[in-house]
Amino acid sequence: MAADIIIGAQWGDEGKGKIVDTLSEKYDAVVRYQGGANAGHTVVIGDKKFVLHLLPTGIFHKNKINIIANGVVVDIDELVKEIDLIEKAGIRITPSNLMISENASVVAKYHKILDTAKEGRKNDKKIGTTGRGIGPTYVDKYARIGIKVKDIFDDKVLIEKIKENLYEKNFILKNLYGEKEINEEEIFNELIKHRKRIKPFVKNTIYELNNLLLKGKNILFEGAQGALLDIDFGTYPYVTSSNPTVGGVLTGSGISFKYIKKVYGICKAYQTRVGNGPFPSEMESGIAEEIRQKGGEFGATTGRPRRCGWLDLVSLKYSCILNGLTDLIITKIDVLSGLDKIKVVTDYNYNGEKIKKFLADANELAKCKPVFKIFPGWNKDLSSVKKYADMPVYVKKYIEFIEKYTGVKVSYVSVGPERRQILKK
Ligand code: IMP
Repeated sequence: MAADIIIGAQWGDEGKGKIVDTLSEKYDAVVRYQGGANAGHTVVIGDKKFVLHLLPTGIFHKNKINIIANGVVVDIDELVKEIDLIEKAGIRITPSNLMISENASVVAKYHKILDTAKEGRKNDKKIGTTGRGIGPTYVDKYARIGIKVKDIFDDKVLIEKIKENLYEKNFILKNLYGEKEINEEEIFNELIKHRKRIKPFVKNTIYELNNLLLKGKNILFEGAQGALLDIDFGTYPYVTSSNPTVGGVLTGSGISFKYIKKVYGICKAYQTRVGNGPFPSEMESGIAEEIRQKGGEFGATTGRPRRCGWLDLVSLKYSCILNGLTDLIITKIDVLSGLDKIKVVTDYNYNGEKIKKFLADANELAKCKPVFKIFPGWNKDLSSVKKYADMPVYVKKYIEFIEKYTGVKVSYVSVGPERRQILKK
């Protein structure tokens, strides 16, 4: 039995969806443990493209259990829309392939309004959130006033919690942000709208998961966002409000560390970031635009253009250490084909000193200037390469340098969005 983990090793959007979809074949269950509908995990199957925000990506495979665990913040309306969309594509969703933790937190309309209102108030210090209510929902969880999935099945508890929440929120909405007050009934109706529909999926997923492990089943944990967006270890305050890093698996699902075997870090062959915050390896606008177009670097959830940069090995090494990565999976290497030269960051210049340390504090990282190593490019179109051995020599040199620098082996290289476009190294 094993619990393996997929973690975004950068600022999210590393192509985790495709990798989870590919690897889930080997597992009995796939689990989302943090984040919410801010995620956008893209899977391309034949000529169809799916973007999942809340459903675990194992949903495309037969006989896999998909679990939305307690660490996730669930927008029930979004989840039901997603279930409908997937069912329309011919995949049946039943309690034998989907479970939702009764203890997961629920996103309500006021969380989304607060998310947007808070951002709107800031001028040059906007985080650039996805507006999905993620931060405000986690705030309520930690303030011990959050609404859990199980609460929506008990009218009395739900009404009490809504009242308690609106008592504070309406004051803030009206007096701080000049927004309209929200009515209790509206939230009650919003939260119970789909309760009959989702009831069969709601379980105590701690026992479900641990029983699977005790029966010798294999479980894949699907991280959302990335290590550099982690609330504790990322580029604070330009982060998300959960722990995409390895610790988030334990608190977000209720399994023990003793089951964890492999921790895969997913890393693009270059680097992107959506939203604000320091980005030492950010490219100049011309080349950034070229990569953005070639790599389709637009947010899967918000459609925002992603900022593009060169691979930053200082930050990647930090992700490796933080998460104890056992393997790296490099994605989108095909996007770099055709460039004369390819740069990677090996050090930072920080206050006149050359350092290899990632300074997660946003103000400190903003002072770090990149020191690049330059690699020769390659012209070959990599999207139809079938074996790693057939990769151009300069691609291999690039990959080997990543391994040498990080001390972590690269086990797969992805050369396109489709399932077949992945090479075992
Ligand atoms: P939030 O998670 O919506 O609160 O957004 C906080 C920060 O995380 C912003 O910079 C977002 O752009 C970023 N973010 C959130 N989810 C994702 C994701 O799935 N991919 C990439 N960036 C994300």
